[in-house]
This record gives sequence, C-alpha cells and structure tokens, in this order.
Amino acid sequence: LHQDVHSFPTRRSSDLICMANKVALITGAAGGIGTAIAEKLKSEGFDLALNVRTVKPQFKELVERLSDENCHVQVVLGDIARAEDCKRMVEEVIEEQGQIDVLVNNAGITKDKLVMQMSEADFEDVITTNLNGAFYLSKYVSRYMMKRRSGRIINMASVVGLHGNAGQANYAAAKAGLVGMTKSFAKEFASRNILVNAIAPGFIETPMTEKLTEQVKDKIKAEIPLGKIGEPSDVANLTAFLAGDESRYITGQVISVDGGMNI
Ligand code: NAI
Repeated sequence: LHQDVHSFPTRRSSDLICMANKVALITGAAGGIGTAIAEKLKSEGFDLALNVRTVKPQFKELVERLSDENCHVQVVLGDIARAEDCKRMVEEVIEEQGQIDVLVNNAGITKDKLVMQMSEADFEDVITTNLNGAFYLSKYVSRYMMKRRSGRIINMASVVGLHGNAGQANYAAAKAGLVGMTKSFAKEFASRNILVNAIAPGFIETPMTEKLTEQVKDKIKAEIPLGKIGEPSDVANLTAFLAGDESRYITGQVISVDGGMNI
C-alpha cells in the first residue's frame, strides 16, 4: 500500500513557497460523489488531498487525470473509522501541503437490514464510519483551521437522516447524528471563522445505489418531485459553493440536493 502511494508525485517542502491554491481534503474520493467533488474542486482551483482505503487502478487513473501544474493531488491512505488513521492523514496533508482549507467528510457506507435482522456489528460499523469518522477528521483538522482562523467543513448527510427509512436504522441514525454534529461544530467554531455545513443528498446515481433493482429505483423516482435520480455533479456543485468565498455568511445549515424529496 505504502509503495503504491509513494509512486504518486509528492510536493517537496521547497515547493511550498510558491503555493497559492487552497487545499481540500476529501474522504471516500474514489466513490461516485467523492470523485465528482474532486473534479469540481480542481476546476475551482483547489489543490487536493484524496483519501481512499486502498489504491485501485481506477483511482490511479483519476489521480493522473486530476494532477497537473495547476493542481497538486496528494493521496492519503486510511480508514476513517480509525481515529489514529484520521490523525495521521491530517498530519500528512499538513506536512505536504502546509494547510487544509476545506474538509469534505464524504466517505460513507450502508449495511441495510430490517431491525430484527440487524446485528450489533451492522449498527456499530455504520455509525463508526459515517459519524465517528467525520468527528475524528473534523477534530484533527479544526486544530489547524483554528490557528489560521479560517476553514470550511462540509459533511455528507442524507435525506434518510432527516426522514428515517425502513431498513436503514443504522444509516439514518448516523446521518441524523451528522446533522446535530454539524450544527454543534458550527456554533463552537463560528468565532474562529470556520464554517460547518451539511449536504443532504436524496437519491444519487453512484456505486452505492447501483445495486438497487430497477423496480426499487422506479419506486424511488415516483417519490421525487423532479421525477429523476440525481447525478454526483449535482452534489459536487453545492459542495463547491459551500467551499468557496460566496458562502461566507452560511454556517450550521443542512442543504438538500434531492429533486424536492424534502419538501
Ligand atoms: P460510494 O459507495 O460510491 O462512495 C463512498 C466511498 O467511501 C467509497 O469509495 C468507499 O470506499 C469510501 N469509504 C467507505 N468507508 C470508508 C472508510 N472507512 N474509510 C475511507 N473510505 C471509506 O457512495 P456515494 O454514493 O458516492 O456516497 C458518498 C456519500 O454520500 C456517502 O456519505 C453517502 O452516505 C452519501 N449519500 C449518498 C446518496 C446516494 O444516493 N448515492 C444519498 C445520500 C447520501
């Protein structure tokens, strides 16, 4: 793994002097929404730190595609469910890029089951990844953001965290927890100019949702006022807005990207 990551170009400390770009750390960057966010933030002029657990060929291609003279791309390997990995990843980005302007807590998992079939491990795994992971990273990143009195944290919640869903008690609890955590962090960090918001996607076409049958997808579509499933870029566009200067007076909000499901 570590050999893999070292095959990507790294920035030497002497290069730091000419750094101008803001730096965004994105978790779960190989996923549908994470990749779209990486692409969008690159187009907005960010340097990137992309977190994955393992480097697969498709991700290698993504890194090669995104890296150029205007965009430094760092790969940070780690499991966000482990506090020690989160701490190390933040330190690696600070060491290589000198700063983290934006943290996008995007990585997430589902383990859908009806309550009667849901094991304690199914519950705990989903909470640990989706909720604890965002806490660990926000905690470690905020230390550096506080010193600079500037930063953005964007948490990927879900419509399921707002409304609940049969078969997703673990996921709904984690995403609802993220909403409460977003508002608390926002209040705690506002005086340091660190803005913390959450996005609540509805139903977005990604590897997470592609395993659903056409029949289930049709049923979901019928509940979406705009009548269609969203694309990862729909979520990435809002992420870029929340990461940029134009959202400087917005904090503690949960914004839906769901074709109207939350009306
Ligand atoms: P995805 O499954 O395509 O991507 C998630 C990524 O997170 C994967 O690359 C996965 O390897 C990574 N990941 C999972 N556990 C990890 C861990 N412990 N450490 C590091 N990385 C880990 O899913 P998608 O659809 O792109 O989802 C992104 C976020 O958006 C998730 O938080 C998800 O809950 C949320 N979301 C997605 C919706 C959808 O309809 N696709 C709807 C609402 C929310």
